Amino acid sequence: MSHPNFRLTLLASLGASLLLACGDSGEGGGVGLLASDDACASGLSWNHGNTGSEQMHPGGDCIKCHGQLGEGPTYEVAGTVYESLTEEDDCGGLEGATIEITDINNNVFTMTTNSAGNFFMTPEQAEGIEYPATVKAIYDGRENPMIGFLPYGNCSDCHTRNGNWTAAGGRIYVPPGE
Ligand code: HEC
Ligand code: HEC
Repeated sequence: MSHPNFRLTLLASLGASLLLACGDSGEGGGVGLLASDDACASGLSWNHGNTGSEQMHPGGDCIKCHGQLGEGPTYEVAGTVYESLTEEDDCGGLEGATIEITDINNNVFTMTTNSAGNFFMTPEQAEGIEYPATVKAIYDGRENPMIGFLPYGNCSDCHTRNGNWTAAGGRIYVPPGE
């Protein structure tokens, strides 16, 4: 009987980079629950399904899924920062990026991305935030502002792989430096 994963395994090894080769060869290839994945700019992706974690489903719509399933924390603001516009769902993003929201009353709210590139604020943490706001992503001294106003906190509603809705170009991202 042939192994059901044979073709996938073959493809993965054909496409394997040094990263994957070293990353998979022992402990420490991933970060937390993220596994090595050379299809993602970060070299990491989520493959633990709906296991609850702050690293889960980077790029996914945390707020919508938690609401629909009635499981997981309630967030007022959530999303994922990448280093390119077009990362696939579940690709890990940039760790240590800052999201800075300035609301209509000039109150500033900041979040730092975790090892999956995810950021989020509970309703308590976001208390007092009034829309429309402005927002920018900052990483390593480089800033990428959203030109339009921020109408609400669910970033992933618009920032998907291909961009959604009001035609966001894709992911929230800070381009790599020189
Ligand atoms: C497709 C659905 C889905 C998406 C998308 C999703 N989650 Fe979850 N999340 C769940 C479910 C289901 C649970 C509860 C499962 C559990 O506790 O094991 C959960 C639980 C959690 C928990 C609780 C973990 C704990 O220890 O209790 C955290 C934190 C979390 N999610 C963060 C996030 C963040 C951040 C995002 C977005 C970047 C996100 N989730 C996206 C389905 C989702
Ligand atoms: C209603 C849709 C919508 C929501 C919600 C939204 N954005 Fe945007 N965003 C856009 C659009 C459209 C653009 C591209 C045009 C522009 O810059 O205004 C954009 C661009 C950006 C950019 C610059 C370009 C890029 O792709 O990185 C950043 C950074 C950004 N948004 C961050 C955020 C963050 C953080 C949130 C959540 C707090 C958020 N956005 C929520 C629609 C949205």
